[in-house]
Amino acid sequence: MKRSIYCGKVDESSIGQEIVVCGWVHSRRDHGGVIFIDLRDREGVLQIVFQPENASMFKIAQNLRSEYVICVKGNVRKRPEGTLNPNMFTGNIELVVSEIEVLNTSAVLPFEISDTIDTSEELRLKYRYLDLRRMSLQKNFIMRHKLASQVRSFLNEEGFLDIETPFLTKSTPEGARDFLVPSRIYHGSFFALPQSPQIFKQILMISGFDKYYQLARCFRDEDLRADRQLEFTQIDLEMSFVDEEDVMSLVERMFTRVCMSVLGIEIKTPFEKMSYQDAVLRYGSDKPDTRFDMEIKDFSQELKNCGFSVFASTINKGGIVRGLCVPKGANFSRSEIDTLTKFVGEYGAKGLAWMKVTSSGAESNIVKYFKNEKIKTIISKLNAKVGDLIVFLADQEKVVTQGLGALRLKLGKDLGLIDKNKFNFLWVVDFPLMEWNKEEQRWQALHHPFTAPKNPDVIDKENAGSQKAKAYDIILNGVELGGGSIRINNSSVQKKIFDILNISAESAKEKFGFLLDALAYGAPPHGGVALGFDRMCALFAGKDSIREVIAFPKTQKTLDPLSNAPSTVSDKQLKELGLKVVVK
Ligand code: AMO
Ligand code: AMP
Repeated sequence: MKRSIYCGKVDESSIGQEIVVCGWVHSRRDHGGVIFIDLRDREGVLQIVFQPENASMFKIAQNLRSEYVICVKGNVRKRPEGTLNPNMFTGNIELVVSEIEVLNTSAVLPFEISDTIDTSEELRLKYRYLDLRRMSLQKNFIMRHKLASQVRSFLNEEGFLDIETPFLTKSTPEGARDFLVPSRIYHGSFFALPQSPQIFKQILMISGFDKYYQLARCFRDEDLRADRQLEFTQIDLEMSFVDEEDVMSLVERMFTRVCMSVLGIEIKTPFEKMSYQDAVLRYGSDKPDTRFDMEIKDFSQELKNCGFSVFASTINKGGIVRGLCVPKGANFSRSEIDTLTKFVGEYGAKGLAWMKVTSSGAESNIVKYFKNEKIKTIISKLNAKVGDLIVFLADQEKVVTQGLGALRLKLGKDLGLIDKNKFNFLWVVDFPLMEWNKEEQRWQALHHPFTAPKNPDVIDKENAGSQKAKAYDIILNGVELGGGSIRINNSSVQKKIFDILNISAESAKEKFGFLLDALAYGAPPHGGVALGFDRMCALFAGKDSIREVIAFPKTQKTLDPLSNAPSTVSDKQLKELGLKVVVK
């Protein structure tokens, strides 16, 4: 018998026809006289029926267990009235089996193959082949495939060339820790796995390819979170003779195309643009979730001479005071406010000041320190209504920004203010080129050191902090989907930037000398972007973790429970590589 159709694809047009389907026994219900089996393949589930008239076949059906693999031939019929299942694509039909072949049996399962079963992640990943059989996961990967193929066709049509770049290469400067691969031939020398194809894609522009893309695997040895893995995929692209607008408009066209073809939703372009400074001030984040308001306002000017010493002294010591308004938050109990205080404490905040807005002004333990006009100013600046709660943080800028940004997100989620059906794309632009690294007492690139400054002619060590970059990040619903920039295409500007970043000429030559050399031979103006493909898939599938859209991810503890990697290797392998393991 050979399969004629997928289980999940059979519909009423097959009624009366003989078909052959293959799949896994999803469930078996023995109704005395009749046995029903839900047979599952990647496209869905089909109900198949064994009737007792065919005794030998009925006996086989009685012995079928979960996840046995079978192939059956039979006739499709409409289900009898009263047994229709409107929740299933195949819910109006069933297959009456005339022939069966048992292709394989299955051991007893460590967990049920069901979307509603809550299994520990460790166990799910150890038996990932079973976990991946769940219909919800199969759907994620079918969607991932569609997204990838739509992205590829779009970029192909736009004239991009798909060119591979090496895995075994030199350290690239994306800011994470490298994975190193020891050379067998040159003991003591190491390849680094690419954190991104950044330098190679720039070199491809210098080579004259004009438009490059790649669904590129990237490797970064960082601590894992829901949206981070050690290895992940970028939609990586680079273009010559372009400015920021060209790259952004290409990305917008790409999202318009994939949102329509994969999700059937129309999105509005051009996407909103917000400066980095605005994002950090109004949302406390460089990746604002704009699906809800609750914007943060600064009160450092208004409150620098107020009677509340916590605020006044913080501002006078160079700190700031910012606040936000929680709609209908006046009914929060003291213990709920204490929970919020604890929450911002994790970001270093020393307390959380609050006021409940009432018809006569405001009410709280600190209201007495403020003149009526100040309270009015605060209420009006936050557009607060009677019954709202206003909260403030006073501290150094970083603590206030991070604390209020995180609090805003938490409250948005807890209070159900986020419309899950929204798809809010946003460009964050006007990034500072560099930020000051306090510990190391030096400037560091906010993106990477190849990002072009807006004003390359004026930049020096003294004014580096106020220089802006030709860089852009794309945010979707508060998730950083990707980032890119126009690059430096002039070796003297590149040298100047390395100098400001305190990357010595020697070190620059050692690390990126090949790029510096290449820039000297007619490098065209160029720029590009990289989009985190796993994050994109998770957002499109409505999942919180990228592990739901990666077939074989690592756990939070950076382990692979399926293969048991990482693991020790033999002495022979170590010897060949000229390595010795030192156990501390
Ligand atoms: P960047 O480092 O911002 O830029 O990375 C681009 C996007 O890749 C995704 N991403 C990750 N996804 C999963 N796990 C990770 N560990 C991880 N790290 C990053 C994010 C991020 O926005 N070469 C530059 C791009 C350029 O300038 O063209 C780069 O790699 O979604
Ligand atoms: P106290 O003067 O310690 O009684 O604090 C009065 C209120 O101010 C309390 O609600 C504290 O949580 C709050 N508070 C203390 N320090 C800060 C701060 N740095 N930022 C915001 N609120 C604070």
